[in-house]
Amino acid sequence: MSFKKIGLYTKLVLLLTVIVTCQTEKKYKDGEKKSKIISVSDPHSFSNPDQVRVTHLNLDLNIDWNKKVLRGHVNLDFDKKTSADTLILDTRNLKISKVENRNTNKPLKFWLGNEHPIFGSPLYIVLGEKDHSACVFYETSPDAEALQWLNPEQTHDKTDAFLYSQSQAILARSWVPCQDAPAVKFTYKASIRTKPGYLALMSASNPQKINETGNYTFNMEQPVSSYLLALSSGKIAFKAIGKDCGIYAEPGMLDKAVWEFADMQKMIDEASKLYGTYMWNRYDVLVLPPSFPFGGMENPRLTFATPTVITGDRSQVSLIAHELAHSWSGNFVTNATWNDFWLNEGFTNYFEQRIMEKVYGKSYDEMRQVLAWNDLEKTIAEMKSDGIMADTKLKLDLRDRNPDDGLSDIAYDKGRFFLCHLEKIVGKSQLDHFLKSYFKAHAFGFMDTEGFIAYLNHELLDKNPQWKKQAMVSQWIYGEGMPVSAIKPISSELKKVDQILNAYFTGSSGLQTMDTSGFTTHHWQYLIRQFGLKATQTQVKHWDNFFKFSNRSNAEICCDWYALSIRLGYKQNRPQIESFLNQVGRRKFLMPIYSELAKTNEGKLWANSVFKQAKKGYHSVSVHSVSEILK
Ligand code: BES
Ligand code: ZN
Repeated sequence: MSFKKIGLYTKLVLLLTVIVTCQTEKKYKDGEKKSKIISVSDPHSFSNPDQVRVTHLNLDLNIDWNKKVLRGHVNLDFDKKTSADTLILDTRNLKISKVENRNTNKPLKFWLGNEHPIFGSPLYIVLGEKDHSACVFYETSPDAEALQWLNPEQTHDKTDAFLYSQSQAILARSWVPCQDAPAVKFTYKASIRTKPGYLALMSASNPQKINETGNYTFNMEQPVSSYLLALSSGKIAFKAIGKDCGIYAEPGMLDKAVWEFADMQKMIDEASKLYGTYMWNRYDVLVLPPSFPFGGMENPRLTFATPTVITGDRSQVSLIAHELAHSWSGNFVTNATWNDFWLNEGFTNYFEQRIMEKVYGKSYDEMRQVLAWNDLEKTIAEMKSDGIMADTKLKLDLRDRNPDDGLSDIAYDKGRFFLCHLEKIVGKSQLDHFLKSYFKAHAFGFMDTEGFIAYLNHELLDKNPQWKKQAMVSQWIYGEGMPVSAIKPISSELKKVDQILNAYFTGSSGLQTMDTSGFTTHHWQYLIRQFGLKATQTQVKHWDNFFKFSNRSNAEICCDWYALSIRLGYKQNRPQIESFLNQVGRRKFLMPIYSELAKTNEGKLWANSVFKQAKKGYHSVSVHSVSEILK
């Protein structure tokens, strides 16, 4: 073939490519106008895994501490249908500089679609027949929603800066362009360069020592969903607890955390006995600074946890049982979309309860169940008065909404009590056998509510017509509120608290004679909540002077007490509330306090002035939620 001919041939190919590319671009741009979300299977992702499915990521990122951005590239390997010509990724606030095929160094044509206020922008990458990977070069925005960059003053030790990510539910796209849909699972490797002298950690194999170069490499061999991508860096130290587990924390926090979570190995052993081998090699916990917006986040191999559970009395360790349980329910078998969120959280809450029973005994866990039941009743009543009873169904419809709207007691506790109800009908050992086989059969896969119902019927309920009738599966899953068949938990420990309170309110006992010896955090919480149902402002004042609730260091107690004080118009503890709101960024605590404040004009004004300052230390998730309340 002559040189001229090759030139002509190449030109023809190029011309064809341009035509195809333009058509593809037109196809998607036209499509975009009609419907923002292209993937029919996941309402919160623009990606197209049914055409092109990402299977592996190779991340290479520099942490730029001065500019507060991550900069580098991600190479994505994928499987695709022969007919597929475009890879669609989710992004949010990312600066994309180029996309290429790393094997051939050929640039790939790309463009970003219109920005959606909740879902970000789709990134379209045009693929040739031979492209099986695409490398995206990008930089995050300094206010990337998933990332929080903390100044030294915002950390525990106050000596160094700190960075952490929170990807669930749909924030991974703000730091990694990816198919941000829980049903898409991939393995990943990463190279991260941080400040020399800092540690970097991910939801993957992790270093245990600071490396003076600041360069770290990571490997996650098991397939995970994008919402489980996690990164943190700072002056972080490590201490082992058991043979395969340990704690990462700022040096000044490490020993307290190690003491608090001493039962971690026991929990792993009990969990594995219940529902099968732990599949993720190590289980470590990273204790974050107090602005972390959640109690815990089940990042595989490395749970992220709030320091507010380090109370010095091990009263909040159920958080570890919970995040550990996600290693099965959530990380191993994952909700197909956020509409099936209860399959993650309801199962995990049930599993958490079973671990807690094994490690700490039944009477301890009964208290937690009663508290959860009461909260659930309150949530349902509030949802009723807000006219959003559709959100009290286990199966949610979160189309066109932020999946964080599904984050309520419904998924967690209605879900858990549904499994308790099944347990009552079929017996513990049958249910355990079923759950163990459920996890095994769907290992490293995903599940939607309908698939679960089919599996439940086939593997369990069809075996006994009586069970099937009593289970009332549809009512639990698709019905509003709590079915009448729900079993209300009881706790003899909390009954004692009822008696004490009764004596107080009937005047037969005063504060001095109230026997609170042996009270744990759960007794106090129950006492405060039940007291709040009948208390007067004067009584609140007496109680605060006597019990000093406003000055406690236990965030659970403070939160309940502050919300009650605000509701009853007791204002003497405003300085303590202000300082609490400035120190803690955990959404669970911020929400009830700001919500109570927002109920009066005076409260709302005060809340806004506090928030103006405090929000500088909150993660975007908390800023968003509190702004909603105060707007
Ligand atoms: N996966 C959740 C946290 C989450 C849910 C983050 C949805 C973003 C969107 C985690 O496992 C969790 O449930 N945390 C609880 C802990 C508790 C139930 C022990 C929390 O943060 O309060
Ligand atoms: Zn959870």
